[in-house]
Amino acid sequence: MIFNLFFFIQYCILYLVIIMERLQKYISNSGYCSRRKAENLIVQGLVFVNGEKITSLGTKVSEKDQVMIDGQILDKEDKVYFLLNKPKGYVSTVSDEHKRKTVIDLIDTEKRVYPVGRLDYDTTGMLILTNDGELTNLLMHPSNNINKVYVVKVEGKIDGSDIYNLKNGVIIDNEKTSPAEAKLVKYDKAKNVSTVKLTIHEGKNHQVKKMFQAINKNVLKLKRESIAFLTLEGLNTGEYRKLNPKEVKKLYNEAKN
Ligand code: URA
Repeated sequence: MIFNLFFFIQYCILYLVIIMERLQKYISNSGYCSRRKAENLIVQGLVFVNGEKITSLGTKVSEKDQVMIDGQILDKEDKVYFLLNKPKGYVSTVSDEHKRKTVIDLIDTEKRVYPVGRLDYDTTGMLILTNDGELTNLLMHPSNNINKVYVVKVEGKIDGSDIYNLKNGVIIDNEKTSPAEAKLVKYDKAKNVSTVKLTIHEGKNHQVKKMFQAINKNVLKLKRESIAFLTLEGLNTGEYRKLNPKEVKKLYNEAKN
C-alpha cells in the first residue's frame, strides 16, 4: 500500500514537471509570440486559463487547459517544419511594413509558420520555418552549438591573417565573436573576388557581414548552405520541403546538447 502510494506520488511529481509548463512558455511554444511578449500579455491581464484571468507569471498549465489570449483561443495545432532555399529579394519576417515579399509567401500552408532566425533581404540559402516555438527557442539560444555554414563572396583578396582573425574572433557590436571555422575556397584574380566558407554557431544580427566588415572586407554575396546536419540537397532556389520526424528529433537533440 505504502509502496503504491510512493509510486503514485512520484507519478504526480513527474506529471507536474513534464506535462505542466509555465504559461508564458506554453504560449511562446505554441508559436503565438515570444516568451517576453507572452509575459507582457499575462501581466496586462489579457490571458485567461479555463475562463479565469491570469496575471501571475508563475502559473503552470498543461495541454488539457484552455488558454485564451485577447479573446482568442490558443490553437493547439499540429507542428510543421519547412526547409526553404531562400531566394534574394524576400524578407525573413511574417509581414513587412514596406510591402516587400516575405519568405511566408513562398510556403503553401494554412499554418501560422514563421522563420527561425533571419536571413537578410539579399542573402540566399537555408531557412527553417515552423510553428514550433519550443524548437525555435532551442535553435535560437546563443548557448547551443548548432553550426551554420555560409559561403561568402567578398571583394578583394583574403589572406592568412584574415582567416586567422575570422577563426579566432573579431569584434562586432563591441563583443568578440566566438571561435569559428573559416576556409578560403578560392580567389578569382581576374575579378579580385574571394570565396570563403565560414562556419559559426552564433546568430548575431548581420553577423557574417559584420565579421567581414571587421576585417575591412565588403560582402558581395552571401548564402547559408547548412544548419546542423541539414543541407540544401535537392532544393533549387525558392523551393522548400517538409522536414521529416527523424530530422526534427535530431534537430531537437542537437539543440539540447
Ligand atoms: N549574417 C549576415 O550578415 N546576414 C545574413 O543574412 C545571415 C548571417
